[in-house]
Amino acid sequence: MEQYIMKGGNPLVGEVTVSGAKNAALGILTAAIMTDEDVLIENLPDVRDINVMLEAIEEIGARVERVDRHTVRINASTIQEISVDDEYIRRIRASYYFIGALLGKYKSAQVPLPGGCNIGSRPIDQHLKGFRALGGDVRIEGGAVIVHAIDLVGSHIYLDVVSVGATINIMMAATLAEGLTILENVAKEPHVVDVANFLNSMGANIKGAGTDTIRIHGVKKLHGTEYSIIPDQIEAGTFMCAAAVTRGDVMIKNVIPKHLEAITAKLLEIGCEVIEFDDAVRVVGKPAQRHTDIKTLPYPGFPTDMQPQMTVTLALAAGTSMVTESIFENRFKYVDELARMGSCIKVEGNVAVIDGVKRLTGAQVNAPDLRAGAALVLAGLAAEGVTEVDEIGYIQRGYECFEEKLQGLGALIEKVDSEKEAQKFRLKVG
Ligand code: UD1
Repeated sequence: MEQYIMKGGNPLVGEVTVSGAKNAALGILTAAIMTDEDVLIENLPDVRDINVMLEAIEEIGARVERVDRHTVRINASTIQEISVDDEYIRRIRASYYFIGALLGKYKSAQVPLPGGCNIGSRPIDQHLKGFRALGGDVRIEGGAVIVHAIDLVGSHIYLDVVSVGATINIMMAATLAEGLTILENVAKEPHVVDVANFLNSMGANIKGAGTDTIRIHGVKKLHGTEYSIIPDQIEAGTFMCAAAVTRGDVMIKNVIPKHLEAITAKLLEIGCEVIEFDDAVRVVGKPAQRHTDIKTLPYPGFPTDMQPQMTVTLALAAGTSMVTESIFENRFKYVDELARMGSCIKVEGNVAVIDGVKRLTGAQVNAPDLRAGAALVLAGLAAEGVTEVDEIGYIQRGYECFEEKLQGLGALIEKVDSEKEAQKFRLKVG
């Protein structure tokens, strides 16, 4: 069983380059099947979720050519199936984007309903509300969402909750509907804007992405394009917290500083130095850091996907901090693992009250999900002694070459898959 083993206590110092945004890529890859022409996508992150999504796209009959590690050419003229296999949904929730993409292009889709997940119940009622409003006949049968439409017709849709997935999914279907769709109370995350820009580069007519209201004038068909995915906001934020919590000094390259403002603001509040460049940020983690309060919110608020990494940072900041999770109901599961490293955090409902401690000590811990897994690695890098993080498959779903990038910053970390290798690491680091 693969695990990360690390010896903490070294400040991370140096430069790291951020990969393409996983969550933008998941939407863009599915949107790519909406044309029969060639689509070239660059700056794809080489992570598990993306590779599974590419397999799912091949499985329904599209041609997928890996041009290089970060570039793919997709041609969907050969699609045979409007039905996506259950296996893919189980491996990546975001394969629900096939519903919007297939419904838009073929007026028909059959996709297994995604189940719950480690961070709480994740309904897709808002997605389905949107498809119905566009004229889709939506049924749930045998665990799958089955949608058919005779004609997709533009509509005025108000989302009851701000949802990234629903915004992107409905936007895709509405792109090939007849007439105007007005989508209100939408998500404004950078990846929503990136998927809209991608669709526009294929001939869609989408305006307002990044604001509360998106207006989509349906077009008859989409054409081929070449497109480069934006940098990953959450990977960048994770390295920002890595610099802060290890009291290091890291230049994080290939970022859009605007997307990082909520994270930057919090790091400044706790006493770190953050210097912005055109496409980079440098974070200097000062020795004395102080408490702050955080509440996760839809963009431009503080991202829920950065909550665990920031909680770990606050676990080593003087004073009492409060972190309120307002997006997902069950996103503090890693706190028990962190307690085994000596943190002092109490969770009540959706609030974690963190009493900053002076030091953490290494322990064996389990990654409960993707972002919490990354956060536990940060804790291990800041802790005294050796930490082993198990279940790292979660981390590999969303971080490209995580251990290599951290090693490049001086971290003593290795991926091992046997006790013998772990023992070798322990002997090496002393
Ligand atoms: C996306 C991201 C995920 C991130 C989340 C919030 C991808 C692939 N995943 O997930 O990493 O943590 O945004 O930024 O981009 N909700 C409903 N009904 C719906 C849809 C959502 O009630 O139909 C609720 C959810 O339970 C949650 C909130 O809305 O409480 C936000 O969820 P949403 O933005 O949809 O998250 P995802 O798109 O699944």
